[in-house]
Amino acid sequence: MSARNYMLALLTQRQPGYSLAQPFYRDPDIFRLDLEQIWYREWLFAIPACELPKAGSYVTHKVGDYRVIIVRGADNVIRAFHNTCRHRGSIICKAAKGNAPKLVCPYHQWTYELDGKLLWARDMGPDFDASRHGLKPVHCRELAGLVYIYLADDAPDFDAFADLARPYLKVHDLENAKVAHQSSIIENGNWKLVWENNRECYHCSGNHPSLCRTYSDDPSLSGVSGDKPSPKLQAHFDRLEAAGYPSTFRMSENMQYRLARIPLQEGAESYTMDGKPAVSRFLGRVKDTSAGTLVKFHYPTTWNHFLADHSITFRVTPISPTETEVTTTWLVNKDAVEGVDYDLKRLTEVWEATNDEDRVVVEDNQQGINSPAYEPGPYSPGQEDGVISFIDWYCATMGKRLRPSLIAAE
Ligand code: FES
Ligand SMILES: [Fe+2]
Repeated sequence: MSARNYMLALLTQRQPGYSLAQPFYRDPDIFRLDLEQIWYREWLFAIPACELPKAGSYVTHKVGDYRVIIVRGADNVIRAFHNTCRHRGSIICKAAKGNAPKLVCPYHQWTYELDGKLLWARDMGPDFDASRHGLKPVHCRELAGLVYIYLADDAPDFDAFADLARPYLKVHDLENAKVAHQSSIIENGNWKLVWENNRECYHCSGNHPSLCRTYSDDPSLSGVSGDKPSPKLQAHFDRLEAAGYPSTFRMSENMQYRLARIPLQEGAESYTMDGKPAVSRFLGRVKDTSAGTLVKFHYPTTWNHFLADHSITFRVTPISPTETEVTTTWLVNKDAVEGVDYDLKRLTEVWEATNDEDRVVVEDNQQGINSPAYEPGPYSPGQEDGVISFIDWYCATMGKRLRPSLIAAE
């Protein structure tokens, strides 16, 4: 049976409301289909734009077999290119990040402008046409200080998401942020387990002592049911909307992304051990620290928290069937000074601890699933509606993409 038909058979057999069958979490053929049908065919959050502070700043990123350079041009525009030389294909930028006036291939020194044009190639003969050998572009969009990329050729619509998210993000002024800290960890678990864990707080009280000081594990606040909010939550939305901060729960029809500004625990203002702001010079226009956190998720790459004093982006990258990278970036006002306006340990300690605690539960989950005795188990309808919604989105997306070719092959 081909991998596609195998996957379709598994999707047909799956029981909604239950975790997936074992192959979804560890089979290399399923992982390849995840890359080809999801990761290469969805808009992916890559970096906050402020990670590229000036012309020539670049980062490299690898998703499956694709390698990408994201670079800020001399005209200040952020672009993305395939990190594959148009001579004989060498990787061009090897560092994770850096700054360069031109992009120079290490093999034979073909030299590209920051906008991808081939500037110089030695001894290529009189008929060589440099204009036909520029770097191949990768679709790239900047949305209110967040950079998204799309790897395959024909990019689907980005505007519906961008139009919905822009006003929510704008008030956080991410264009005027700087990276205060970034950490990447590898979780030894399938990327879907990382998401399943992220989409519920059923595990929070048992695993996240630091986070629970300020973040409520009440699923009616952060859930995805779209049910009518409680009168208290509706009053929170209304009060903040009236103050000019978009807050109301919004979710895409296919459940791929969601935005809502939800309250923290009573009296908490930020993700710190004492609940007080971590940064005295705020990032953005939200001056009301009782606004809580703007939570955003967008499958398959990112969940985020945007607070009054700082913002945090999280990026998920699948590495192998049972390894996933999670990169967390703490953003503060670009004029905030470490040691004066914020203390780095205080800013980062809650989510550094939380990420590590999440890594442990994801790894434990993967190890248990690896046993032949594993069978899919039921999600809690009240506590894990976010997980149900993620798994439904994944299965619907995968089914839709695989079925046309199956029909065509019959
Ligand atoms: S492969 Fe890049 S210059 Fe030759
Ligand atoms: Fe967690």
